[in-house]
Amino acid sequence: MAKESISRTFAVAAGLCVVCALIVAIASVSLKGAQERNKALDKQVNILRAAGLLQPTEKVDASRAAELFENCKTVVVDLESGTIDESADPAEIEKDPNNKIKLDKADDIASIKEIPAKTVVYLFYDETGELKTVVLPIVGSGLWSVLYGFFSLDGDLNSTANIVFYDHGETPGLGGEISNPVWTAKWKGKKAFNQNGEPALRVIKGTADPASSDIDGISGATLTGKGVTNTVTFWLGEKGFGPFLKNLRAQNGSKSEN
Ligand SMILES: Cc1cc2nc3c(=O)[nH]c(=O)nc-3n(C[C@H](O)[C@H](O)[C@H](O)COP(=O)(O)O)c2cc1C
Repeated sequence: MAKESISRTFAVAAGLCVVCALIVAIASVSLKGAQERNKALDKQVNILRAAGLLQPTEKVDASRAAELFENCKTVVVDLESGTIDESADPAEIEKDPNNKIKLDKADDIASIKEIPAKTVVYLFYDETGELKTVVLPIVGSGLWSVLYGFFSLDGDLNSTANIVFYDHGETPGLGGEISNPVWTAKWKGKKAFNQNGEPALRVIKGTADPASSDIDGISGATLTGKGVTNTVTFWLGEKGFGPFLKNLRAQNGSKSEN
């Protein structure tokens, strides 16, 4: 092959491609485990934040996270019946592609089209074995994007413990403020259900009455706020965790405080 020929140029380019592809493939395969561990830890941290066991910006390693999960019972809930499926494996249920139900348009207030038939819920207990916090996964549409989060209730199953949004594509500084701990702190202690047991939390425009179930709106982001209201209303309602929370109340022998 001549020192400077077209075929030599192609051969060098092809060789380079193969070497680069190999490097990328090896990096991808060798980092896969670490990526999955980080993803799992990130999820645990967000659940612990919703449970109030970690501060909003606090980070922990996997062993500390595991310690904080010691008093947590992770259960699979059948949304329609509101019962716990003791035989289902939480890790498997989240990967099951057939684990879904289509929603009727009239029921789909969170604009998500479908929901899992069975989903994973986290029950945190204190040292005496009393239920302290229930962490529920929530998903719904904001203005631009799908909002993914966790909503939690105190052991009375009516007072809001926390709300955490860990993934969304709303505008930073506007709708993106839903993941700002200063705003999410406004949810703490708000009664989630009215006297008839219906979901009552609402993000309103302007400043809310502290004694009500209203939450201050985010200025310039009324539409994302509406998405958050719809999301929480859906998941606390009859098609979401309503039946499960009713069963849990009956089990705990406690009536919700209104
Ligand atoms: C570039 C741009 C990005 C916006 N992002 C959001 C957003 O993420 N969430 C939101 O509710 N409104 C967003 N808005 C504003 C909405 O269009 C709408 O005006 C707003 O929700 C109304 O809220 P307000 O009544 O509090 O002003 C954005 C507007 C612009 C121009």
